[in-house]
Amino acid sequence: MDTYTELLKRRSTRSFKDEKVDDEIKEKLYEAAFNAPTAGNQQFYSIIEVNDRKIKEVVAGSCDHQMWITKAPLVLIFLADLKRWNELYRAYGLKARRPHLGDLWLALSDANIAAQNMVTAAEHFGLGTCYIGDIIENHEVIRDVLKLKEGLVPACMLVIGYPEKSETGSKPRRFNKEYIVHQDYYHEFDAHEHIRYYKERCVDTSSDLKVGLERFLKRKYLSDFAFEMNRSAAMYFEPYLDDIEVLLVDLDDTIINFEAAEKAALKTLFERFALGYITDEMIEKYSAINARYWQMLERKEKTKDVILVERFKEFFELYGIDSSIAEAFNEAYQTTLGDTIVYNDDSLELMKELKGKVRLYLVSNGTVIAQRKKLKNSGFDKVFDKIYLSEEVGYEKPAKEFFDRVFEDIDVDKRHVMIVGDSITSDMKGGIDYGIKTCHYDPKGLCCSLPVTYSIRDLRELIYLL
Ligand SMILES: Cc1cc2nc3c(=O)[nH]c(=O)nc-3n(C[C@H](O)[C@H](O)[C@H](O)COP(=O)(O)O)c2cc1C
Repeated sequence: MDTYTELLKRRSTRSFKDEKVDDEIKEKLYEAAFNAPTAGNQQFYSIIEVNDRKIKEVVAGSCDHQMWITKAPLVLIFLADLKRWNELYRAYGLKARRPHLGDLWLALSDANIAAQNMVTAAEHFGLGTCYIGDIIENHEVIRDVLKLKEGLVPACMLVIGYPEKSETGSKPRRFNKEYIVHQDYYHEFDAHEHIRYYKERCVDTSSDLKVGLERFLKRKYLSDFAFEMNRSAAMYFEPYLDDIEVLLVDLDDTIINFEAAEKAALKTLFERFALGYITDEMIEKYSAINARYWQMLERKEKTKDVILVERFKEFFELYGIDSSIAEAFNEAYQTTLGDTIVYNDDSLELMKELKGKVRLYLVSNGTVIAQRKKLKNSGFDKVFDKIYLSEEVGYEKPAKEFFDRVFEDIDVDKRHVMIVGDSITSDMKGGIDYGIKTCHYDPKGLCCSLPVTYSIRDLRELIYLL
């Protein structure tokens, strides 16, 4: 059959024979996709072939529970990919820029055109196909299961396989050409014309067309899945919409290495308080206790004065050290903490470079004594436009009130603000709840359970996000 006849005859397939698509044909399908037209020959797309049963189930479930998808031998997700070229430029030491909406638009076109080439080729090999638009839904689930980072947006999903006999019914009717094709410019239709063209498309005109159309409206346009799709799509598009003008930057374990400072301070004070030698294992234990207490503070279960002392009490009790010294120890700790400064990823130079591009504000939950000392010793006090320490603000991240106070000062639309930080519970949660962009600094690649806008492993990646 020639291509034209095949195009006219084709219809979607939703039930498949239990028959694998052999590798040779699969390769040909990919070749057909790769040979599709692509903007500037950039092939702004990637394809995920899902073979893993569990992943197929998660994806099918997320696509409005269309579980029949799992029976398809070939399940392909076409992604708009704005990541590849940016990384390639970077690999050569070239400075690209943050992708914008236009770039995404081209990439989505590239991905969909490649998919349609594959559909046509599949038809040629006797294979049935069906697009699954619901792949746009449930942004969080899909990003998580397919491990999609920023720059990767699902354009469409294709399921492919040999059609069951029962599938070969008649093809759904299309609108007449006059309703679709306009000469020279867009011609508006009046209500009568809309109804006429709709009637012409309906096979069964004996039933009440209005009732049928209303049912269709409810099923397709006003249904839960349609609302979910729009919510999810907005989340995919969000990073491409607005320029970032303001960065809120966390201090500890973001631009400076808190662990190194903590270790040095504890070692010094164990000597000063004549407590013997503190081992790395003890420091690790202390870090875990400390993190737990700071989370209690974020959840507003305890006040800062209390957690600062109690964390040492618990730690000392664990090692049989007299815990009555906890208060004095903490006081000394606050001033010693700023003595050791280790920058993460050349953060001082980086912040100086970013200063020319955006306004920079430091947002930290640490204590005033310790943070002021760290900022002075590190030189960051001269880089930031303003410093917001929770003790001075009166609220801790992630509280809304903390951000309210900052925003009262900085006079900028939320859409142009991004918070950068390592903490999921304070920086990322606070940013997401407040409706600003979020950049999770995740040097160990541990991933964030929250839907952050960006995730970076090296602070220098910020240059490409602004
Ligand atoms: C963008 C897009 C999304 C679609 N999503 C689904 C889907 O989620 N589930 C489904 O069964 N069919 C889906 N389809 C298939 C359409 O329902 C189908 O193409 C349409 O009804 C016309 O029928 P035909 O392809 O058999 O000519 C989708 C098609 C497109 C182009």
